[in-house]
Amino acid sequence: MSFTTSDSYKGQAIYTKFILTIYNLWVLGISNSLIWKCPTKKLLEQYNKYVSDNHLDVGVGTGYYINKCVFPSKDPNITLMDLNSNSLDYSVKINQRYQPKTIIADILKPINSNSKYNSISINYLLHCLPGSMEAKGIVFYNLKKLLNKKGVIFGSTILQGDIKQNMLAKRLLRIYNKKGIFSNNQDDLISLKKQLEKYFSDIKLIVIGSVAVFSARN
Ligand SMILES: C[S@@+](CC[C@H](N)C(=O)[O-])C[C@H]1O[C@@H](n2cnc3c(N)ncnc32)[C@H](O)[C@@H]1O
Repeated sequence: MSFTTSDSYKGQAIYTKFILTIYNLWVLGISNSLIWKCPTKKLLEQYNKYVSDNHLDVGVGTGYYINKCVFPSKDPNITLMDLNSNSLDYSVKINQRYQPKTIIADILKPINSNSKYNSISINYLLHCLPGSMEAKGIVFYNLKKLLNKKGVIFGSTILQGDIKQNMLAKRLLRIYNKKGIFSNNQDDLISLKKQLEKYFSDIKLIVIGSVAVFSARN
């Protein structure tokens, strides 16, 4: 299955300059704790566990995790990738001290880069992308090519399916999916596991609240 640019476009269109100013409070503060029941602290813990000094963050949003995580050394080599230039600009600004490189790219399309990374993060990106989890597997296919042999990919995504969700979560998911902010109506744990297993080994996958938290190696 292939996607038109307008399909890819929907999941990133919401990230205007204004939305990015309230993103950390609404998503990382309120929603993660009270609605998705996966406190940001847990995702930051995973980030700290796997991040390397040669790191690519995909779907950067506000660049929060790069800003807050602890890199193994003081001078990491960081690249930020996103389809939305507002997200890239915001994240670069907040992480200026690292002088990150940027790649503007649609992760559903082949990535034009020869660089390889020891760690790649994709937090809260998959649930923004159109299509079934099988179709979203293209993200893993594209990122595998950018991951060094012993590298690790890690991330998180909000699921549906058999996941227990409170009324607020169900309601918000309906609204977000209707508006095209999320496209995760078909995303469940089994289909995510299947896609990770198709491309990677040493899969670690747990569910915290509504959120699948995963890591995998090449
Ligand atoms: C929900 S935010 C996640 C931000 C951050 N990773 C976090 O966990 O807080 C999703 C980000 O993915 C980007 N994005 C959405 N669709 C994309 C695509 N097709 N290719 C690349 N980036 C995309 C958006 O522009 C946005 O910056």
